[in-house]
Amino acid sequence: MLFWESSGAMGFHSMLVLVTWVGVMLTAIMAAAAIAYPLALPNCSDSCGDVKIPYPFGTSEGCYRKESRDFFINCSKSYGQPDQPMTGNLPVTNISIEGEMDIMMYNAINCYNQSGTPLSNNTEPWLQVPSFTVSVTKNKFVAVGCDTYAYLNGILNGKGFSIGCLSRCNDTSNIVDGSCSGIGCCQIDIPEGLTDIDFAAYSFKNHSYVWSFNPCSFAFIIQKDEFSFSSAYLTSLQNNETFPMVLDWAIGNETCKVAQNKGNYICGGNSTCSDLKNGSGPGYRCKCKKGYDGNPYLKDGCQDGNPYLKDGCQDIDECNDKSKCPGKQICVNEVGSYHCSCIKGYHKVEEVCVPRGSSLTIYLAVGISIISLLVLLLGCSWIYYGLKKRKIIKLKEKFFHQNGGLLLKQQLSNHQKSMETTKIFTTEELKKATNNYDESRVLGQGGYGTVYRGVLSDNTVVAIKKSKIGDQSQIEQFINEMIVLTQINHRNVVKLFGCCLETEVPLLVYEFITNGTLSNHVHDKSLSSLLSWEKRLKIATEIAGALAYLHSSTSMSIIHRDVKTAEYTIG
Ligand SMILES: *[C@@H]1O[C@H](CO)[C@@H](O)[C@H](O)[C@H]1NC(C)=O
Ligand SMILES: *[C@@H]1O[C@H](CO)[C@@H](O)[C@H](O)[C@H]1NC(C)=O
Ligand SMILES: *[C@@H]1O[C@H](CO)[C@@H](O)[C@H](O)[C@H]1NC(C)=O
Repeated sequence: MLFWESSGAMGFHSMLVLVTWVGVMLTAIMAAAAIAYPLALPNCSDSCGDVKIPYPFGTSEGCYRKESRDFFINCSKSYGQPDQPMTGNLPVTNISIEGEMDIMMYNAINCYNQSGTPLSNNTEPWLQVPSFTVSVTKNKFVAVGCDTYAYLNGILNGKGFSIGCLSRCNDTSNIVDGSCSGIGCCQIDIPEGLTDIDFAAYSFKNHSYVWSFNPCSFAFIIQKDEFSFSSAYLTSLQNNETFPMVLDWAIGNETCKVAQNKGNYICGGNSTCSDLKNGSGPGYRCKCKKGYDGNPYLKDGCQDGNPYLKDGCQDIDECNDKSKCPGKQICVNEVGSYHCSCIKGYHKVEEVCVPRGSSLTIYLAVGISIISLLVLLLGCSWIYYGLKKRKIIKLKEKFFHQNGGLLLKQQLSNHQKSMETTKIFTTEELKKATNNYDESRVLGQGGYGTVYRGVLSDNTVVAIKKSKIGDQSQIEQFINEMIVLTQINHRNVVKLFGCCLETEVPLLVYEFITNGTLSNHVHDKSLSSLLSWEKRLKIATEIAGALAYLHSSTSMSIIHRDVKTAEYTIG
């Protein structure tokens, strides 16, 4: 206190710096601790050399599970060498918390000198951890040699068990590198649940016939993916002391159920217990539950005489992974899990954070725009069709006037009596009668226009002539002709039924005569042969009669100066 007072402002400043620095250090240490979960019991080493040693394994008394000596790892220290973990006499390269232990296993070597005497340095290895099984999926048993057989012995389901492998060859010519199928090399799968193993290689004839290229027999267990046979092995494998192999480890020789009712059950809090895969060995394993990480074999309480006041499976802070809650979210860690919530001013709509209150506004806006669009569309089309209809009506009226419709109406009313049969047709009527002026309905075409066959609504068959009159000066004459034509009533002159003036060119509707024109009958060879002189004379007389009728018998004399056979039809 006195010190700070005497050093004044400067002292206060350096204290602030110090406090900040300590805070940063503490945060860093805590963050590191949160990720590196404890593996071993308190006051126990959790590694040897660069191999991690998780409990139930341990390197000293009180640090491994005392029920089985197999969990003891001898961390051998030799001067100038890295520490080497050993299980029995075998080097350990890795221990996984999931239940595997990687070791280096010895090679069974059986060599002879040239006269067939076994050499003194031959080996027959055996596994010194009796409770661990040989991994079925990771290893295979291999014998190498040209005068060789090998045995693998062990305990399977409490009984002695033995399998063998045989390999021969007379010379090296048949050997294929990479192939291990009985020529110089033999391999077999390991049976499931095999413990307490030993193995040895033997020779039939002490390699006496193959000594020059293969003086030894070999047998070993090796990790599957670490071995591919090569013919060079026949002379060189005595130099390979060890091969990598994988052991399966588990707790005890009971199932979870049995163990849980006993005092020595090992799985800690937040973990699950599982029996070993059927047949792969006795015992059970522990595993952290989802959302937890750490060593499931550590338990809150006293273990092997050591107090341990924490479960090994600790909650994972999933929120350290920033990708867990992307976007406008905040990660909230929970015990065993986590959840993502939205940042302030946002809320969740179908797992997506959107600004608060915006969803209703958006739905409303979208709804209203869709409705107004529909209304607009309907209105537009209504106006469009209305205008179009109006335009058509206007156009019809225009044509009607242009084609002398009013004049005709007036004339028709003047001649009312004789005009009973004359009719003004509408465009719709004639359109329907000619099937919209279909080409199949065309009867003839020429300088005068086009003639269509039509059927009126009362089933009368008519000929409809689309004239070529377009000249306004001819309108009055056209109307007058119309009036005159409607008055004609002669059995040999085609009757005019009426007209339509609503189209650009007027349409005339005539009586329809079916039997073709006179021109057809006179000029067609087959038809003209049927036309006797009597008939021809009769036709000529009747034409003359009709012309005479037109000339003199109508109210207004009609002089027809252009008489053509094509205009006469045979009735
Ligand atoms: C093989 O070993 C036996 C026994 O040690 C010895 O008597 C013999 O001379 C050896 N033969 C050769 C060729 O070294
Ligand atoms: C199971 O293990 C216990 C202790 O390790 C041992 O006493 C017992 O004989 C074993 N039982 C069997 C069936 O292996
Ligand atoms: C395990 O194997 C035994 C005999 O091999 C069999 O009776 C039992 O049903 C198997 N259990 C499961 C869960 O497959």
